[in-house]
Amino acid sequence: MKGGEVASGDAIHRGDPVIVDRYKVDARINHWLTAGSFVLLALSGLALFHPSLYFLTGLFGGGSWTRAIHPWLGTFLFIGYLGLFIRFWKYNLWTPTDGTWLAKLHVFLRGHEEDMPEVGRYNFAQKCVFWSMTAFILVMIGTGLVIWEQYFAAYTTVDQKRLAVLVHSMCAIVMICIVIVHVYGALWARGTLTAMLKGRVTGGWAWRHHRKWLRELATGKSDQTPRGTPAE
Ligand code: HEM
Repeated sequence: MKGGEVASGDAIHRGDPVIVDRYKVDARINHWLTAGSFVLLALSGLALFHPSLYFLTGLFGGGSWTRAIHPWLGTFLFIGYLGLFIRFWKYNLWTPTDGTWLAKLHVFLRGHEEDMPEVGRYNFAQKCVFWSMTAFILVMIGTGLVIWEQYFAAYTTVDQKRLAVLVHSMCAIVMICIVIVHVYGALWARGTLTAMLKGRVTGGWAWRHHRKWLRELATGKSDQTPRGTPAE
């Protein structure tokens, strides 16, 4: 039976070490296509952002190609993120534990994760990245369509386009910062990258970082205190 934190495909495999399946192959392909399109999107966007970064257009075959490709990359990212959103939104919903976790953020930042409340599939910080990314992608696609001259030039005024360019570029900078935080988090918690690369983590990783998720997976019940020794 699946609990609220457990996704289809999550499973525990006995052994030394215990292995826990966290992402199915389709979720990983979805994630890496989205991540790849984001990197290309950021590079092509920065190339158009400031003359000092114009040299980046060389990566895309020159200025005209960069301008033509960028909105399509954005469309691709939007569809890719929509896939991630559909897969993961329910595990990113706010729970009372998130409030307790946030109140003890200073403990987490000092590196004492063992003194934090038990976390489900995602912790408060991961949920913040998820929802802020969702909001910014919506703003980016909306403003991006307004300034996509080739197809939508006739639908908005020059003033609306000016405002859209401003919002689009400012939000892009914030989004790049959010992704840097996301990547930093993935590298900082050792063993996390394996989750997205191979789809699995060790029992020790799950016990340390997402104990509530592991408990649910082991018992099949939400908020159940397990009997016996945890998976190491
Ligand atoms: C470019 C380098 C990136 C790396 C190295 C990376 C790495 C990871 C890793 C390791 C996880 C698994 C975290 C866990 O299971 O606890 C993850 C999850 C995720 N990533 Fe990325 N990622 C990258 C880029 C992106 C981008 C650009 C986006 C979106 C635009 C994104 C969206 C997500 C989402 C939605 C999840 C699921 C977490 C959640 O729902 O809160 N990632 N990523």
